[in-house]
Amino acid sequence: MTVAFDEALTIVNQLVFDKRAKYLNEPEVTVLKGAWNNWDYDQMAKHSRFSINYLQRGVASKLFDVLTKTIGNGERITKRNVRFFLEQAAKNYFTKSALTAEHNLSSGRLLGGQLPDVSIFYGRTHELMLLKQLVNTTRCLTIVGASGIGKTMLAAKLIQELTTKRQLNFDCIIWKSVAHSPILNDLVDELLELVCPSEYNSNLPEYTQAKITLLLKQLQTYRCLIVLDEAEALFPINNVSQRLDYRLFFRRLVEEKHESCLLLTSKILLNELNDLILSKRPLFFFKLEGLDPESALQFLQSKGFTDKEHCLSLIKTYRGNPSELEALVEKVNYYFAGSTQKFLENETTFVSSKLESTLNHLFSQVLTDIERIILIYLAQKMVSNSKGVSFLSILDNLKKNRKTSFSTSELVKALEKLEMQSLIESTKDPNTKEISFTLQPVIKKYITTDPLGLVHMTDVLPKLAKIS
Ligand SMILES: Nc1ncnc2c1ncn2[C@@H]1O[C@H](COP(=O)(O)OP(=O)(O)O)[C@@H](O)[C@H]1O
Ligand SMILES: [Mg+2]
Repeated sequence: MTVAFDEALTIVNQLVFDKRAKYLNEPEVTVLKGAWNNWDYDQMAKHSRFSINYLQRGVASKLFDVLTKTIGNGERITKRNVRFFLEQAAKNYFTKSALTAEHNLSSGRLLGGQLPDVSIFYGRTHELMLLKQLVNTTRCLTIVGASGIGKTMLAAKLIQELTTKRQLNFDCIIWKSVAHSPILNDLVDELLELVCPSEYNSNLPEYTQAKITLLLKQLQTYRCLIVLDEAEALFPINNVSQRLDYRLFFRRLVEEKHESCLLLTSKILLNELNDLILSKRPLFFFKLEGLDPESALQFLQSKGFTDKEHCLSLIKTYRGNPSELEALVEKVNYYFAGSTQKFLENETTFVSSKLESTLNHLFSQVLTDIERIILIYLAQKMVSNSKGVSFLSILDNLKKNRKTSFSTSELVKALEKLEMQSLIESTKDPNTKEISFTLQPVIKKYITTDPLGLVHMTDVLPKLAKIS
């Protein structure tokens, strides 16, 4: 572990204060910094407004006396060895605080539910770095991504890193799955019980909005990171009043000034939150894609798949989606005796049961007519042409649909939404700059096989011949 001078200074400054009830002053810091950089007193004087004589005779010897008593561990500290002792003190401090963080974690700093196990975790270095910055600077952030892509794992890994490494900037972290779709009043109650248990037990206000005011006050007093996993469940399609309640809740949360952060994971781009974004409220989305090929390869190798070429081909088909790959591994093990060679000779696309149930839900309740028409048209086109379908071709097809009419802007909006939900993918031709859209194999497979007949639910749609 390397220690920066500023880090060591902050820690030693506190230790010195504990010892002599006075922080290090400017000339003392000048000497420390100089000694750290191995400067002589002449150089220190040139980099400061103090004379050599003053630094060397008036400051240094007394400073090294104090440091000897504070961080010397029985040895005499001098200009030559002070850097070593400063680094040691900083390292000791970091080790201790990591232990305390782990202790706090088990004794209640991490509140709410149980984190999923992230002891086996590949890749996501870039995403974690970005998320660490974002949770420190935004009040509401949603990780959006396909079913099984790794949203929950990523959020859990983030929490684990924040609580066990040196990056703990929050007074408390709450982990909550909201898959059971609680009504707003119940969720606020549960959060209040965690954030301010004493008030929760004594004088809790009666009305939901007053409770939210109390919660906001707590979020202003303490820096909290609240993770709501599977947040799409807070916005049930057929419960308009609940959707409006939550919209107002999130609006209050982001409009009020505080340093806490609400981190959501969601399979879909939530309409209500998107509306708030469009009206320039400070909410952010973070679209999560599959594992990068290198990490996905490690993931498959850990499951016993060793042929690199075969693995890369599977990773491409399943877009690095770890849970689709996991389901595939099971099938290949069961039916093809674990041989990727045999499987690829008889290749087919498997849709995992997790993805299938998400798609059942989307097609039965969430997707609009225009979104379905686009998906079905893409699936039809891609049977003969896997390269993708141009925007103009989709537009043309929509205009030909006599049963209903859609505007170009409605088409654009629908395409954006479908892409955010990882239901379609886009590519831009580098020469013509023309944009085209494709379906990833698992989505195409679901649409063309239409296992529950949900794809063709409305009569606006052209019938698609079933292909298996
Ligand atoms: N970074 C990762 N490293 C290893 N396995 C992962 C990773 N991300 C996801 N997985 C695997 O994929 C499964 C689904 O991930 P999860 O986070 O539950 O997806 P989501 O919340 O997006 O539906 C996990 O149970 C885990 O086995
Ligand atoms: Mg999840």
